[in-house]
Amino acid sequence: MTTPDADRQITVSSWNEWDPLRHVILGVADGACFPVSEPAIAYDPPDDPAYAGKRGRLPQELVDRANEELDNVAAILRRRGVRVDRPTPIDFARPVVTPDFEHPSMLGCMPARDVLLTVGSEVLEATMSYRSRWFEYLAYRPLLQRYFEADPRMRHSAAPRPRLTAASYKPDYFATSIADFDKIISKADALDFVTTEEEPLFDAADVARCGRDLFVQHGFTTNLKGVDWLRRHFPDHRVHKVNFRNDPDPVHIDCSLVPLRPGLVLANPSRPIVMEPGKEKLFERNGWEVVMAAKPAHDRQMPLCYYSVWLSMNFLILDPKTVIAEETEVHQNEQLSRLGFEVITVPFRHVYAFGGSLHCATADVHREGPCVDYFPRQ
Ligand code: ARG
Repeated sequence: MTTPDADRQITVSSWNEWDPLRHVILGVADGACFPVSEPAIAYDPPDDPAYAGKRGRLPQELVDRANEELDNVAAILRRRGVRVDRPTPIDFARPVVTPDFEHPSMLGCMPARDVLLTVGSEVLEATMSYRSRWFEYLAYRPLLQRYFEADPRMRHSAAPRPRLTAASYKPDYFATSIADFDKIISKADALDFVTTEEEPLFDAADVARCGRDLFVQHGFTTNLKGVDWLRRHFPDHRVHKVNFRNDPDPVHIDCSLVPLRPGLVLANPSRPIVMEPGKEKLFERNGWEVVMAAKPAHDRQMPLCYYSVWLSMNFLILDPKTVIAEETEVHQNEQLSRLGFEVITVPFRHVYAFGGSLHCATADVHREGPCVDYFPRQ
């Protein structure tokens, strides 16, 4: 086995969202497909009639524009000495077929954050909970294999593949339109989510890492069994289940609760946090300040983007004094400057339709620094 020179320096290690970033995976837009409704999620037709009912690959000009923005971020990070690796797309237009289900196509490999959870020297492939995302990990396997060969301490693991039969979803959860926010919010506030407790389910992006403490959003993509699975899998960590009220799409924590640096966390002012009983004051008790995020600069999301305008909170922290953020999210970026960050701004809105902004688009491989206990008072 020969290790390429560029791989000799590879270290897999990342314990939190803010320590100095040395190596990251950044998604690519190639081959991404129109999403197709499935039991886990009902997509409303896109506003633009040109895209209504479309299936298969997204138009090449959208892919090219997104890739331009992604490549620019890669170049900026590399200039700053961060190693940037890119996934290898598979043929996402092919159907997903297992003995238990069939779905007409996959999504793509832009949002690396959703699939890969790095905790210390381990990269864990999440179960995922959408049928369309069952095989997404394959796009990251070439990289994970290289890291495994290069870093003898790296641990590569995969959570049990879920079966995702009809038993994993509540039938007709989205019988009303997904735009029927009030109905969905009242169900979600009662912790009645689309996924059942048939089997452990979690997406990697439901986890926010703060050293010994992992905050895990319980919602559409992560169920209670998924939280329990993570708790058992990381016995040296404290896994905190969190819910957010008033969220019509409780999917992925990184537009709702964003740790900025030791002692400072950004929260979504329209989605009150519900901590587990006895943990309501965890941040305050440990001297952490909870700051409400600035209001989004946009009141409409980009065409074909199914996430909310709170992608404004979805920047990437490069070190405790520097973030890279979408240039038009001006209110959020001003707030970050006031909080003492240097904000590097980049165009990134054409990437939104491919699964989010800069935090979604990336997965940590290496951040300097050890595992620290930031919450000694539990
Ligand atoms: N649910 C979030 C919102 O719309 C989107 C989170 C996207 N994050 C991700 N890692 N793909 O507010």
